[in-house]
Amino acid sequence: MSRTAILRQMQEDLQQCRNCGLCEGRTQAVLGAGVPNSRIVIVGEGPGRNEDEQGKPFVGRSGQLLDQMLEQVGLSRNRNVFITNIVKCRPPENRDPMPEECLACRPWLDKILELIDPKIILCVGRIAAQQLFDPSFRVTRQHGEIRERDGRLVMATFHPAALLRNPSYKPMMEEDLRKLAEIIA
Ligand code: URA
Repeated sequence: MSRTAILRQMQEDLQQCRNCGLCEGRTQAVLGAGVPNSRIVIVGEGPGRNEDEQGKPFVGRSGQLLDQMLEQVGLSRNRNVFITNIVKCRPPENRDPMPEECLACRPWLDKILELIDPKIILCVGRIAAQQLFDPSFRVTRQHGEIRERDGRLVMATFHPAALLRNPSYKPMMEEDLRKLAEIIA
């Protein structure tokens, strides 16, 4: 089976997932989207209202900003990036996913990473960074650092929603994304 076919099957299987309580409130679970043989996997926090409705990650305002910023450094989910989230179902009222929900959802993320086998993972925001980069991650201090975790490179940067609230973070995220693009160039 091709990676595309496997991802399609996973998206279907995911709809049956009841690994944690988030399944109760979802419209649909969101596996991810992008290029199946990407060398970069971007990991966000979890679906929001738009993502839950449309079944795709980062399609709301933060997603539009993320797409714009990726384009500025020559990256895009249509060409060279796969995007997913730590949890695949929308937390109620968009609250932070709880540690046990992140843990319950981890097998899905691990399967995606195993299948796509990226060179580098980019965590956007604190939740993903604490799960995949450093449990005590502080974005202003550690964004743009590159570490090796389980045989892969991992970098963490700002969540685009933080940039919407505080546009002064934009140049710092842009610099991180440039570094990311250089790594796979
Ligand atoms: N925020 C996230 O972290 N992920 C999404 O998919 C949408 C918004």
